[in-house]
Amino acid sequence: MTLRIQIIIGSTRPGRFADKPVAWLVDRLTGRDDFEVDVLDLRDHPLPLFDSPMSPARTLRDYPNEAVAALGRRFDSADGYITVTSEYNHGYPASLKNALDYVFPEFNKKPMAFVGYGNAGGARAIEQLRLVCVEFEMAPLRRAVHIFPDVMRPAMMAEEFTPALFESLDERLEMLTNELVWWSTALKVARDTD
Ligand SMILES: Cc1cc2nc3c(=O)[nH]c(=O)nc-3n(C[C@H](O)[C@H](O)[C@H](O)COP(=O)(O)O)c2cc1C
Repeated sequence: MTLRIQIIIGSTRPGRFADKPVAWLVDRLTGRDDFEVDVLDLRDHPLPLFDSPMSPARTLRDYPNEAVAALGRRFDSADGYITVTSEYNHGYPASLKNALDYVFPEFNKKPMAFVGYGNAGGARAIEQLRLVCVEFEMAPLRRAVHIFPDVMRPAMMAEEFTPALFESLDERLEMLTNELVWWSTALKVARDTD
């Protein structure tokens, strides 16, 4: 069984830090034989502030327009997710929430893991996202990678970013990934037999 793990980039702002952890994730996760990696950049799915006439929890995959359908199909294609989140005013970015609100069944019964960054390693944003995941009938994972300023700063200062700048987090990522694969496999089997 080949799983598809999707990395969702929560920040869309110019000059975002997010690209660094995403480059590290892609470097470390590409080439594993138990899943393929898909990077979903929300910049590629610009949508207005949520304006669907009804909740996607009711309309399901009856999408209001092609732009929403394209996002829905991308989310649908994955068996598990790693959301990379910044923290704005102790919450996760509005760009991420806006995208999530456009869909619903695409996420049901799938696991989501988190990589966060900021003064508290994105911990407050991640805690809030875990609550949102429960509403999506997902399995939010306990493990997360928190990138604190001691690791962020050298990465920001470097003339050229290399994934080695995050190597102190490799072990934690490995544990998170193994847990995500376990949940992705278990829930895929369960969904397929539904
Ligand atoms: C509007 C705003 C609010 C912020 N609030 C927080 C915060 O509550 N906690 C934190 O750790 N960092 C905060 N920061 C700093 C961000 O961690 C930092 O700007 C980071 O680079 C944002 O991620 P991004 O560049 O990928 O968008 C804030 C930044 C902005 C722009």
